[in-house]
Amino acid sequence: MCGIIGYVGQEQASSILVDGLKRLEYRGYDSSGIAVLQRGHVEVRRSVGKLANLEQTLSGGDLQGTMGIGHTRWATHGKPSEQNAHPHRSGNIVIVHNGIIENYLSLKVHLQQEGFQFESETDTEVVSHLLASYMKQSQSLSEAFRSVVRELQGSYALAGICEDEPHAIVTVRSGCPLVVGQGEKASYLASDVTPLLTHTRDMIFLEDGDIAVLTPGDITVMAVDGHRVKRKPTTVDWSADAAEKGGFPNFMLKEIHEQPQVILDTLRGRYSYDSGEADLPDLSITSEELSNTKRIWIVACGTSWHSGLVGKYLIEEMLRTPVQVDIGSEFRYREPMIQPDDLFIAISQSGETADTLAAAHEAKRLGARVLSIVNVVGSSLARDSDGVIYTRCGPEVSVASTKAFTGQVVALYLLALHIGRIRQQLMADDGRWWLDQFRALPGQVEHILRQEAEIISMAKRFYTKSNFLYLGRGINYPIALEGALKLKEISYIHAEGYAAGEMKHGPIALVDEEMPVVVLAPRHRLYEKTVSNLMEVKARNAPVIAFVSEGERELGGIADFVFSIPHSHPLMSPILFTVALQLLAYHIATLREVDVDRPRNLAKSVTVE
Ligand code: G6P
Repeated sequence: MCGIIGYVGQEQASSILVDGLKRLEYRGYDSSGIAVLQRGHVEVRRSVGKLANLEQTLSGGDLQGTMGIGHTRWATHGKPSEQNAHPHRSGNIVIVHNGIIENYLSLKVHLQQEGFQFESETDTEVVSHLLASYMKQSQSLSEAFRSVVRELQGSYALAGICEDEPHAIVTVRSGCPLVVGQGEKASYLASDVTPLLTHTRDMIFLEDGDIAVLTPGDITVMAVDGHRVKRKPTTVDWSADAAEKGGFPNFMLKEIHEQPQVILDTLRGRYSYDSGEADLPDLSITSEELSNTKRIWIVACGTSWHSGLVGKYLIEEMLRTPVQVDIGSEFRYREPMIQPDDLFIAISQSGETADTLAAAHEAKRLGARVLSIVNVVGSSLARDSDGVIYTRCGPEVSVASTKAFTGQVVALYLLALHIGRIRQQLMADDGRWWLDQFRALPGQVEHILRQEAEIISMAKRFYTKSNFLYLGRGINYPIALEGALKLKEISYIHAEGYAAGEMKHGPIALVDEEMPVVVLAPRHRLYEKTVSNLMEVKARNAPVIAFVSEGERELGGIADFVFSIPHSHPLMSPILFTVALQLLAYHIATLREVDVDRPRNLAKSVTVE
């Protein structure tokens, strides 16, 4: 987590840094700071809490200079405090850091023996002192960095400046995202592309081990041994507006409303209706390999894990191929029994989630073909995979994931269709039939978004409750998990998602008139069974919110609220229910006056274990 930024050019650095940090605030926001080189001396300003506090500190406009670095923090080592906030200084060197230095304790002991005084509880401070130590025998800051990275274990993206080098920022990457961009007589660095979009479109996604030196007119990338390396710039075509709120009160609501477009964009140009086939050019996994795949593994974290679970139900039903779904942090340490002809799918919005990345590396090591479903172009996961399906959601800024989920499920639909047609389990007519279902989704999601007022009434009735239970079956069991996750993430209400049939084995003990139960009951072969579960909670006086298929009337007199989703094939229903549950969580959270885009303790991109 944490976001880092850097600027060297002709303009005042502090406003560029603060503007950039605003776009990175989703990565962490318990404190922030910037350092600017001012008349030969690096001035540091830091504040606890959200970025607005730092802006307040800087409001006097006394920080003048055309080179600087900045940081927004998500605490790992040491509580949120001004002392622990970045940038960290040692002598005439100042740095910012995203990631974790795993061997910081042993380094700290050595540095203390050398006489360095530590002022923070962070792991980062060892890096600033190590740099200062190596600087004594180095010709330049980049040379000191090259020595320091040899000593570091863990994951990091670092940027540093030195008072003796007034026109250069040095930045290094190992295991954490880092992008650099060249503008008009200016160079930039950031943890992701969003702060750079207003300045430049041509960006270089640095790779692990890269050390870059940024000057106003040039970016030089080198390896740890000092050899120059060539990195091809990528043109990023996201609009800067896409990263703004576009008239909505916050990013989360904007991103929920963008979902019809996300579905269209993720499908666009990726199928041929005539042949009923999906066309996935970046897949890089041959038809023969896909035909021979005996087993599929899906690994992800958080909301992306829920889309992976949807993928399991979908692929097993459409392709009759067994799918094993794992959470990244479990998969990587459980010695998974992957076979070389297995297909491994990693799903991640950011493409930087540490556990998902490590799981993909492990799968590769064990010989599987690795395919990723990723939103961020050029992210680590995308680069480390054999093939990629990009979800084309645009930047997802709100910490709680919404549109990325929808893009991921659409990507899984396309993949299932692609494999089904290759293996001839689906004929051209079947393919066209599925494509009709996919293409109906944007309109169906629009329909749900138009019924937001009904969801607001539900939210008003229940927003003061302390516990919620979400029940679903089959492909909507993961949606019960996702609905509960969304609610707890942004409203701080305790919520559990459960397989409806399993509810009797425990959660029913919690059910009473104070616990609203959300039941997902689409018209499906399991509909009656789900209704029986609904009756069981109703018999214990729980208020019931039923989400049903259009035209279903029988729950009208039984449930406290009934919300209809448009009629669709059951395998398409997860997206529709999810959008409705996102709105429910969103409106409950706003009634509770939570900052929905930046819920407490969470971070958008979890780049540490
Ligand atoms: C964090 C975010 C979640 C996200 C998860 C996985 O926990 O707060 O919203 O679902 O990471 O992120 P990824 O980028 O891998 O999809």
